[in-house]
Amino acid sequence: MTVKVAINGYGTIGKRVADAVLKQKDMELVGVTKTKPNYEAKLASGMGIKVYASLAENIKLFDAAGMRIAGSLEDLLNQADIVVDCTPGKVGATYKPLYERHRLKAIFQGGEKHEVAGFSFNAVCNYKGAIGRDFVRVVSCNTTGLCRSLYALDKAFGIKKARVVLVRRGADPAEDSKGPINSIVPDPVTIPSHHGPDVQKVLPHIDITTTALAVPETLMHVHILNVELQKDATEQDIIGAFSSYPRIRLVASADGISSTSGIIEYARDLGRIRYDLPELIIWKESIRSFGREIYLTQAVHQESIVVPEDIDAIRAMTKLTESPEESMRLTNESLGLGR
Ligand SMILES: NC(=O)c1ccc[n+]([C@@H]2O[C@H](COP(=O)([O-])OP(=O)(O)OC[C@H]3O[C@@H](n4cnc5c(N)ncnc54)[C@H](OP(=O)(O)O)[C@@H]3O)[C@@H](O)[C@H]2O)c1
Repeated sequence: MTVKVAINGYGTIGKRVADAVLKQKDMELVGVTKTKPNYEAKLASGMGIKVYASLAENIKLFDAAGMRIAGSLEDLLNQADIVVDCTPGKVGATYKPLYERHRLKAIFQGGEKHEVAGFSFNAVCNYKGAIGRDFVRVVSCNTTGLCRSLYALDKAFGIKKARVVLVRRGADPAEDSKGPINSIVPDPVTIPSHHGPDVQKVLPHIDITTTALAVPETLMHVHILNVELQKDATEQDIIGAFSSYPRIRLVASADGISSTSGIIEYARDLGRIRYDLPELIIWKESIRSFGREIYLTQAVHQESIVVPEDIDAIRAMTKLTESPEESMRLTNESLGLGR
């Protein structure tokens, strides 16, 4: 069986999900939408991806640019089994009535509220809960990173409580109109930031409090975790626990990977397209145990970490497989994760 996938919104996340869908043997990319005929639309079309106009009134812009498009968003939705909404935060929710009218399953991203879908997803944590669902929200990049490491720690040792400081990149690399450019911004200044409650949408039993800062950086987010476990764990125990998850990659500062820019250089040297690293990165040397109380520092490549989760959400919702392990294996192998 092959599932027909439409992507509404072909920006940072949409283009990466599109590329990942093209790599799945059990999925077919029926098309993507663009609001305007910019270079991304032209590149997609040049790669043989069918491009549709997200806004019908903008079709004339494509005509004026001499770019042939395949039709309107509605034309695209008519051909799909499922749509992955990758429009900007809060815009996705406005499309839900349209998806419902087309009787389409839909995946929303982390910029939407949990309530838009009623189910927040992370493959390793709650794949089975998404099986057969019509609406699912793949949680944000920061929440995805936290879910991966907290799930692994909880499974191995039990978590009594987690306290996390998030240092967030101010903007994605192409977003030159966003800031901050010379400031460290408590984002928000109040505690908790939305990330802790968001983790609890996926892992409701975890006692977590988060606080976040936005900084003038575009490459990655960094999280400092202080976790109280339910039983003692040594640094080696913790490294052993993380090592069994292909979507967690341990790196060593001793190898020269001592910063987010070092991680990105590593991704380039691995030959990763767009220097994407969908794996959560944890610095080995940052893992420190005081018996039950542990510390670690992790980094999240915000533009790509949610991509494998979107692919697994498609499999769960359309029942391509009801096995989380099988879905994650297929996704990881196709995207080269864990190698
Ligand atoms: N970037 C990240 O770090 C990140 C990480 C995890 C999750 N997310 C979440 O993923 C979602 C998408 O974020 P993104 O960073 O990919 O945004 P983005 O780069 O701005 O891409 C959004 C895409 O949607 C298109 N679009 C804008 N308005 C639209 C409309 N009314 N109808 C249809 N398409 C429209 C955009 O315009 P054009 O068609 O003109 O290009 C663009 O292709 C958000 O919920 C965000 O919170 C983002």
